[in-house]
Amino acid sequence: MSPSILTICYLIASITFIIGLKMLSRPQSARKGNLIAAGGMIIAIFATIFLYQDEELSYLRNKILIFSALAIGTFAGMLSAKKVKMTSMPEMVSLFNGMGGACAMLISIIEFNYQRSVTTAHNSPATFLIIVLGVIIGSVSFAGSIVAWGKLNGRFKDKIFPGQRLINFGMLFLLIAAATLFVYLVPGSSNGLSVQLHTYLFYSILILSLLYGVFFVLPIGGADMPVVISLLNSFTGIAAACGGFMYNNQAMLTGGILVGAAGTLLTILMCKAMNRSLLNVIVGSFGGGAAVSNANKDQGAYKEITLNDAAMIMSYANKVMIVPGYGLAVAQAQHTCHELEKILTEKGVEIKYAIHPVAGRMPGHMNVLLAEADVSYEKLLEMENANDEFKTSDVVLILGANDVVNPAAKNDPASPIYGMPILEVEQAKNVIVNKRSMKPGYAGIENDLFFQPKTSMLFGDAKNVLQSLCAAIKEV
Ligand code: TAP
Repeated sequence: MSPSILTICYLIASITFIIGLKMLSRPQSARKGNLIAAGGMIIAIFATIFLYQDEELSYLRNKILIFSALAIGTFAGMLSAKKVKMTSMPEMVSLFNGMGGACAMLISIIEFNYQRSVTTAHNSPATFLIIVLGVIIGSVSFAGSIVAWGKLNGRFKDKIFPGQRLINFGMLFLLIAAATLFVYLVPGSSNGLSVQLHTYLFYSILILSLLYGVFFVLPIGGADMPVVISLLNSFTGIAAACGGFMYNNQAMLTGGILVGAAGTLLTILMCKAMNRSLLNVIVGSFGGGAAVSNANKDQGAYKEITLNDAAMIMSYANKVMIVPGYGLAVAQAQHTCHELEKILTEKGVEIKYAIHPVAGRMPGHMNVLLAEADVSYEKLLEMENANDEFKTSDVVLILGANDVVNPAAKNDPASPIYGMPILEVEQAKNVIVNKRSMKPGYAGIENDLFFQPKTSMLFGDAKNVLQSLCAAIKEV
């Protein structure tokens, strides 16, 4: 009786994962989608704990250990998710992803030891293939995610040793060769290894995979970390799917495949948004120590604008486009930004937001931020549509964005961001840039836009400046 109920539970969980993922694609339904998928996961977990039977027809034992681990994990997860700042979200995603990779790695280790203890004859190479894939992908994902987490919060720096790429290729080649031997020379087969040698081989693969994870992520440039995290996320999904195969667990299989596919698509989309190939991301070191900075180049003078003048220009404009960036997120100025939008709309000014796909520090960062402040989705323009509308805009107000409006992406082939599609704000009549100083953005490069005749700088923290702007516009 129980196995069929268990299968139905896994089926329900799989369906909720698919529905949840679909709902995550729209900001309006994302929160509900997340809850639905989490509900499915709870069903799958409890069904496994209470209904799963092993070959000796015994249910999972050691419930105290299981529930203690569940309680600790739930508490730690909820606490960190509640405390995390929006701008530190990629770090948290990376850490959680690393935990997923570690789980897949541990499952493979446990399953390897189980297989070793129960059989020496008739061992199936397919089982060992799944085990070795799980341990390699899980370990690379675990070690790589921890390094990515350390790089995002500044604990680790980008590091490229001489010949590092060659060493990386060598390690990858060695891993593939060792994994092939591990599957081909299963103990008990005609030319199989002894159990002891096979075990040594397994643990060597484990150590090599962990080292490869570290060496793979260490040289990748800081600004490319979100892409790498998404790639590692897809690895974790594939490793989890291997676990699903191993235990014939449909929920784990579906969940793993969905994470693997979604992570892969997201990686491709981000690369496309930056107009770079995945290989270039992996070996390009963009935004890292190797990024070219022409901060010392003599750009001439920039122009400043007073708060009152900015308030005046915007109050008498027909159309104002707001370009949000990472600085808006850091300042937590989304609510004040919405306030400014409402005040200007009351004065008859048309307001729209231009959203660059990689503005901020994670995919959809600006959409989530503005949704949190109840900005209407209809007012958000994607890059292509925004670029069509800049020429009919009187003012573009840039709030803490830098790289995503840098014309060097179009005009300077030597620039590390050359080729990245950007918001072509210079087509508007006036450009007002709010940031705190003339310091560069994430890519570490100067921005010619700030020195163009149409551009005026409005220095200060985004939230303070927006609050003062709101007050000044009310007076106009
Ligand atoms: P950035 O180029 O990083 O520029 C942000 C600007 O905000 C900085 O120049 C900073 O200047 C300013 N700022 C910081 N704190 C502020 C505050 N409190 N008030 C006002 N301004 C503040 O950001 P962006 O234009 O959004 O570009 C995103 C970057 O991340 C790109 O290089 C992109 O390729 C990279 N990236 C993003 C993603 C995703 S998915 N989002 C993925 C991969 C890479 P001051 O210090 O002078 O204030």
